[in-house]
Amino acid sequence: IMDQKETLARSVNQDEEALKKISELINQAYGTYVIGCGTAGKVALTATYLFSKIAKKHVNFAFGSEFEVCKNFITKDSLIIAISQSGETADTIEAIEIAKSKGATIVSIVNVENSSIARMSDFCLPLKVGPEKAVASTKATTAQLAVLILLAYASINKINEGKQLLLSTSGKINDLLNPRYEDHILELAKNIYTVESMYIIGKGENYPMALESAIKLQEVSYIHAEGFAGGELKHGPLALISQDTPVIVLAPNDENFKHIISNAQEIKARGGYIIGISSINHDTFDYWIRVPEADIDSPIINIIPVQILSYHLALLKNNDPDMPRNLAKSVTVK
Ligand code: AGP
Repeated sequence: IMDQKETLARSVNQDEEALKKISELINQAYGTYVIGCGTAGKVALTATYLFSKIAKKHVNFAFGSEFEVCKNFITKDSLIIAISQSGETADTIEAIEIAKSKGATIVSIVNVENSSIARMSDFCLPLKVGPEKAVASTKATTAQLAVLILLAYASINKINEGKQLLLSTSGKINDLLNPRYEDHILELAKNIYTVESMYIIGKGENYPMALESAIKLQEVSYIHAEGFAGGELKHGPLALISQDTPVIVLAPNDENFKHIISNAQEIKARGGYIIGISSINHDTFDYWIRVPEADIDSPIINIIPVQILSYHLALLKNNDPDMPRNLAKSVTVK
């Protein structure tokens, strides 16, 4: 987690020629599909929001394990952008094989540069974050988000603008990762570590981050955690809220703020304990985790306090945060 002080800046340092070439492919493709599994899958889903907002471009999303559904739409003019830390995930590899059999072009965003996925790809953008040993993905996640933001800017010929934005994000992360900040999150962890369930809500590009927050919490704290789009609560999940149920609200100060706050108010009215992750405080928040002001980079900024919270919950519950039960770092079987 702490490596993110440096890793984000490293991931932004991509070969401009490769970025331009991949941008051309995105602009010419008869359908771009961003794929991945687990956390990399949540990042792939985030790409649909990032490309829409930054570049006004439509990209499709599928989990590697669910790519079969896209199979009938893939042609030699399709483009696949596969995201993976290890580059060895069997479900993602199988999806790439399906796409290759149809003649599609494969771009990958991977951390392990000599991995199977990197070798199967026509173009590869490396994450450059160094070995990620813990099962839970952290620094690879934020680097994947950064490379996708950069790629979205590159696809509208604005590489420098994207780079500047991400370098400023990297500076903001540096300010965030300090012992006082961690203590504030530890305090929260001590309040909630005995709960059975918790929920996370987000909107727009922070909706996939709510899903990713749930994976982070599940993996290492073993607390039942689920992420939702804030607007979906009233269609069912609101019934799960009872007195003191912790709910993390990802609330960047953007056009979605008032909507997600209104969702938080609905939860609070049912007794929920609201943990706001936001650059600004709000009277709905029972516990405020302050994050720096962010723009389209808010998914990168917002996931970091959740990583720290998950880590501390794991320690408080005597779980091994590096090697959670039942999981492997790289899932090389179907
Ligand atoms: C993330 O915390 C998980 N360990 C897991 O979901 C992981 O992201 C997934 O298995 C995909 O792995 P990959 O990035 O190596 O392809």
